Amino acid sequence: MKGRILSGIQPTGNFHIGNYFGALNQWVQLQNDYECLFCVVDLHAITTNYDPRKLLQHTREVAAAYIAAGIDEKKCIIFPQSAVASHAELGWIFSCMTPLGWLNRMTQFKEKAGKNKEKASLGLYSYPVLMAADILAYKATHVPVGEDQKQHLELCRDIAGAFNRFVKDEYFTLPEPLIQKHGARIMSLRDGTAKMSKSDPSEGSRINLKDSDEEIMQKIRKAKTDMNLFPDTFEDAKGRFEVKNLITIYALMTNQDPQSVCSQFSGGNFAPFKKALTDAIVERIAPIRNEFNRLMQDKEALDIILENGAHKAREIADVTKTQVFEYLGLYR
Ligand code: ADP
Ligand code: TRP
Repeated sequence: MKGRILSGIQPTGNFHIGNYFGALNQWVQLQNDYECLFCVVDLHAITTNYDPRKLLQHTREVAAAYIAAGIDEKKCIIFPQSAVASHAELGWIFSCMTPLGWLNRMTQFKEKAGKNKEKASLGLYSYPVLMAADILAYKATHVPVGEDQKQHLELCRDIAGAFNRFVKDEYFTLPEPLIQKHGARIMSLRDGTAKMSKSDPSEGSRINLKDSDEEIMQKIRKAKTDMNLFPDTFEDAKGRFEVKNLITIYALMTNQDPQSVCSQFSGGNFAPFKKALTDAIVERIAPIRNEFNRLMQDKEALDIILENGAHKAREIADVTKTQVFEYLGLYR
């Protein structure tokens, strides 16, 4: 084994192909080489507005998506963050070691809080500290994340360093990011300059893992392109954001590079390409969706997987917490 991995996705509903190619697909490949823990970060999901009646359902959905995409629950630990109390406890401790200046630099907070900074919650502000606790609770050596999370991982390394200096011991090793090079960013089907996102109010902007074949067909049919013909090379697609995005999606779905997609469809109009793209998405996504639906029908089996995962996760995280309490002179 090359080390220990921890990563997580928020249960905010609408799991889409961007999440699949940006995160899950990479995790599936990593599970053979690393000891893996995959968390459903429900405590992070409550930092912004959410519906408590839907949260648990969304947590199960993310876990089902992990398994349906190919994460083997026998090999990896799959668990909900809130089931392991040490995350929140360590989060508090690390918050006492994180200078405000470090948090003030976090760009995600600025983006998510928007203009209404005064109304954003303390939880949204300290979100990266909880993320550091998720990672350090397991002394993870590697963390696969999207480009957007790189800054949070840097902060996690800074916090680990601050702890080590404070207790005068090399207790935490600094975790390394694993950032994938290709397919790291899929864009909206309606606007090639905005990333495909769960929170986009337009359903037509994304392909969800749950979409039926019919819905996939409709969304691709309506996906934005332009008046020009299909580009001869991927380089020629420069500036044609929507076209580039559809080529990228087709390339990812069919495991080829974008250039060979261009050679195949070069000079044509978009109708035959869209037909091929629909077929490719359906072929790749339908088996995952069917497995996802099957898992979601048996909530009890899913809850057993989550509870087993939580049990194994607690055993690791609680040791870290106890040792941290000891270092800091806290009662235990
Ligand atoms: P969203 O923006 O849809 O709410 P999250 O922020 O919850 O997604 O991200 C969950 C994971 O999926 C992260 O690892 C993130 O990097 C990845 N991800 C999200 N959107 C995309 C996208 N459009 N393309 C590629 N990866 C994505
Ligand atoms: N912040 C991450 C995201 O939005 C999710 C996350 C929470 C995470 N804790 C983590 C990712 C720990 C990796 C490791 O995508």
